[in-house]
Amino acid sequence: MLLAVESSCDETAAAVMDGPPRLLSSVVASQAVMHAAYGGVVPEVASREHLLQVGPVIERALAEAGVSWTDVQAVAGTTGPGLASALLVGAAAGKGLALALGCPFLAINHVEGHLLSPFFGKEEIPPAIGLVVSGGHTLLVDIEAAGRYRLLGRTLDDAAGEAYDKVAKLLGLGYPGGPEVEALAHEGLATRFTLPRSMMNSGDLHFSFSGLKTAVRYLLAEVGGDARADLCASFQEAVVDVLVDKTLAAARLVGRKIIAVSGGVGLNQRLRERLSEAGVAAGCEVVFAEPWLCGDNAAMIAFAAVHRWRAGAVSGLGEDIFPSLDSDFFHQ
Ligand code: KG4
Ligand code: ZN
Repeated sequence: MLLAVESSCDETAAAVMDGPPRLLSSVVASQAVMHAAYGGVVPEVASREHLLQVGPVIERALAEAGVSWTDVQAVAGTTGPGLASALLVGAAAGKGLALALGCPFLAINHVEGHLLSPFFGKEEIPPAIGLVVSGGHTLLVDIEAAGRYRLLGRTLDDAAGEAYDKVAKLLGLGYPGGPEVEALAHEGLATRFTLPRSMMNSGDLHFSFSGLKTAVRYLLAEVGGDARADLCASFQEAVVDVLVDKTLAAARLVGRKIIAVSGGVGLNQRLRERLSEAGVAAGCEVVFAEPWLCGDNAAMIAFAAVHRWRAGAVSGLGEDIFPSLDSDFFHQ
């Protein structure tokens, strides 16, 4: 029986899982409304809210799972990457509980949580190309097996979700921006404006989305707010074009036949349609994380932890947080 805690960004979450990976509870307290007024996550607000929520969220997860403290045999906590002051809360809570309960602590990489989430509940993780697209990350990873990863490409500036959020802010839409931009894009014409597909022909598997956001800003100044729907549709098509193109290039390069998509932007219907079509054409199976697992949650952290635990990995209580993406993690 494993308890997982997650607090890397603006969701305080806890989950209980037993092995073989079977989820008993998953509780997520989102702070999104508190950050909405700022159009993005404010770290100081996030860490204070995590501090208030972490205890009640863990207690609710145990209650919903119908287990007591003494049933917990291991505690997992996200130690990075993420906002330092936010990570500290969940990681300290996890380590404190492990110490108090006298059980092992497992430090879990948030990106590994997302990466494995398309295979949630499975005992074996098949070889695949993982595309993680969220507000904080845009990564292509070769998954050989659970715990064996190779980073193939990443964004050199903004993450795909961050680009959605920034474009939403430019257009006066709400936060998080992804769903708002997607909804407006439905009413727009994607062919009206040609926006840059940055790095599409860079010959590598890296991404760049900040130029696209700037192009939207200039275009908006030129054509005005009446064109918002067409701007959203044209922007979305540019993002999806690059994500689909590079993901298939990665699958071809490594020779993988499964593509696993995770993270908040994985909720985007246009991305799901276009990637599924392109996957079929290339003879690849495209697996998306279920919608409830796309946003940040502790169930995916618990799932990654169960795989780590089985492999015998236990972290010491001295394990520190790491706010930045740790590229060594992807070369094991
Ligand atoms: O995975 P997530 O909840 O948190 C991070 O780890 O970042 O991802 C949140 C991101 C936000 O940037 C949000 O705008 C984006 O995912 N997002 C979407 C959609 N739903 C959420 N982006 C595009 N289309 C969507 N439907
Ligand atoms: Zn995330």
